[in-house]
Amino acid sequence: MPVADELFDLANSQIVQQYIQKTPGSQRLATEAQGVFPSGITHDARYVEPYGIYVNRATGAHKWDVDGNEYIDHTGGHGALLLGHAHPTVSAAVERQLACGTHYGASHELEIQWGQLIQELIPSAERVRFTNSGTEATLLGIRLARAFTGRKKILRFAGHFHGWHDHVTSGYVSHFDGTPTPGVLPEIPQQTLVASPWNIEETLQIIDAHDDIAVAIIEPTGSGWGQVPVNRDFLVALREATFDRGIVLMFDEVICGFRCSPGGLQGAWGITPDLTSLGKIVAGGLHGAAIAGRQALLDLLDFRHALANDLEKVAHQGTYNAMPTSCAAGIAALEIVKTSDACERAIQTGSDLQQQLNHMFSSVGVKWIAYGTFGGFHVFLNPQGLNTTRDEIESGKFDYLTLRAPVSSSLSMKLRVGLLLHGVDAMRWPGGPVSAEHDAADVTQVVEAFRQTIMMLQEEKEI
Ligand SMILES: Cc1ncc(COP(=O)(O)O)c(C=O)c1O
Repeated sequence: MPVADELFDLANSQIVQQYIQKTPGSQRLATEAQGVFPSGITHDARYVEPYGIYVNRATGAHKWDVDGNEYIDHTGGHGALLLGHAHPTVSAAVERQLACGTHYGASHELEIQWGQLIQELIPSAERVRFTNSGTEATLLGIRLARAFTGRKKILRFAGHFHGWHDHVTSGYVSHFDGTPTPGVLPEIPQQTLVASPWNIEETLQIIDAHDDIAVAIIEPTGSGWGQVPVNRDFLVALREATFDRGIVLMFDEVICGFRCSPGGLQGAWGITPDLTSLGKIVAGGLHGAAIAGRQALLDLLDFRHALANDLEKVAHQGTYNAMPTSCAAGIAALEIVKTSDACERAIQTGSDLQQQLNHMFSSVGVKWIAYGTFGGFHVFLNPQGLNTTRDEIESGKFDYLTLRAPVSSSLSMKLRVGLLLHGVDAMRWPGGPVSAEHDAADVTQVVEAFRQTIMMLQEEKEI
């Protein structure tokens, strides 16, 4: 059935009908939003048919919509909220800073403290530069790598997400052949080589065949928050090969930084890249991100370094870089990450959730598999009915096309809406981050929400 028909058909679904009955306030706001925003939304990831929930309150691992319905939240501020919603220490720090002003148009002490915490926690962070978003961090990292090496090409990995700027749109969910996505100049993706992060031989061949690669950029836990896991051996081999050939290695730790461990994936696995993009948790749930890395690379932003070496400095501005409020939130959050077991707790709860989901999936006879190594969970919907296990998936054995094999859009939407109907807001694939605030009762409730949704999907012959 064509996608448009499938979506139209949603109107006949019991799951969708019950959701509409439960969320009249969200439906009203969604209708209003259609007159303001394309698709009525402000981020592609918030696209839900027939419409998503409108939230007006959140605390810990839970949030509430405008109709008063409560949800266990597995969107986690798009990954920013390792400590859960409205963490009292983080909120108090922001409130204190708000009273002192939001923008000084000048340097301030908090930015130094924030940068020093990053240096302390992230092994590769000899120097730090703040940006507003993860997209800006990877953009600046690529610019620094090109300026440093004098080379043009980017080596990236199929399915890995690095934000929405022009240099990284081809090769994420489509255009693996180097053709441009709509609105991007064709010359831009021509400078990108796309490799398979589950195939080191192919990656090394690409590296050997090109002497003009400036930077290799990778989500070190694997694409889409580790949906297609990358294993440690691959990263070690990539580190060696890039080092030998003078290619800048950038770990995009926008998701996994301060989540896999206080030192990110590089801290957990002991592999040090040249550059690291950081976002989300780094700013404690406010806007803010950073590129960090070797001093020799970051020095290209330094005025005195440029003068002393007769170089043109790499340009970088940004009105909201290191906003005092973001600094306050970032410092409060990173101090907690540094001094508590927040990462370990989130990883343990994520693992418990995966285990209990897998137990339930087998008991109701679906071949879905929950997995994930990053402090969250993914569910492989296994449309081809493969006989495999959580361990095998986590070992990095499967490729992008297998693990992210498309399922029908009606199944995908009904699953997401079904989970909302049963009190869980998760990312669409489905999966999402787990915070240090999620507890055993939340895990039980999420498993039950999946079970109820599966029963409804079975009744509607979707699975
Ligand atoms: C790995 C990764 N890199 C970069 C980005 C872009 O960050 P932002 O949304 O802050 O621009 C994201 C966002 O989800 C991400 O997951």
